[in-house]
Amino acid sequence: MIRLGVLISGSGTNLQAIIDAISAGRLEARIVLVVSSKADAYGLTRAREAGIPTLALTRDDYADPLAADKRIVQALRDAGADYVVLAGYMRRVRVPLLDAFPNRIVNIHPALLPSFIGAHGTADAFAYGVKVTGVTIHFANEDYDRGPIIAQQAVAIAEDDTLESLEAKIHAVEHELFPRVLQLIAQGRVSVGEDGKARIL
Ligand code: GRF
Repeated sequence: MIRLGVLISGSGTNLQAIIDAISAGRLEARIVLVVSSKADAYGLTRAREAGIPTLALTRDDYADPLAADKRIVQALRDAGADYVVLAGYMRRVRVPLLDAFPNRIVNIHPALLPSFIGAHGTADAFAYGVKVTGVTIHFANEDYDRGPIIAQQAVAIAEDDTLESLEAKIHAVEHELFPRVLQLIAQGRVSVGEDGKARIL
């Protein structure tokens, strides 16, 4: 049973998918803390409704990003987290967090990395006109959006897709893939080799 700290910034539909997978017995994990970079994120309500302790930071708290990350590390340690899940967390994770959880911070990105890095993966892929995009789950490291890739799933963009319909497709894949990959981690089946690549055993 792994103990997850989940970092969010927004609506928290991925957080909800993880909560639901745990309740359904599909993910052998416990969420010990939800941290939000925004005090009004709806994901905080989802966490509270599930009885999960929360920590909400504000824009002011991030005036010193290293201090903010140190505070998050302390809270995660106090809660006993052994993995950190970035579920729509719109802040860059800095050295204090990266050093505290090496190859133990899992991010979801709404595009097929290394394409369309950054905060608007779905919109950037749609605007570019690619025919296939998708979802990437990877370990976060100091190389922003370029840490070891654990899993990817493709999503085709149809001629009649709008940005909204594409976002819905991406979300549906995220909600299924994220808990599945976290379960592989819970089973100890994901490792990072000396070549820097993540492998599923
Ligand atoms: C997801 O699409 C995630 O890939 C991106 O932000 C979105 C978060 O959505 N980084 P939610 O807060 O989980 O609903």
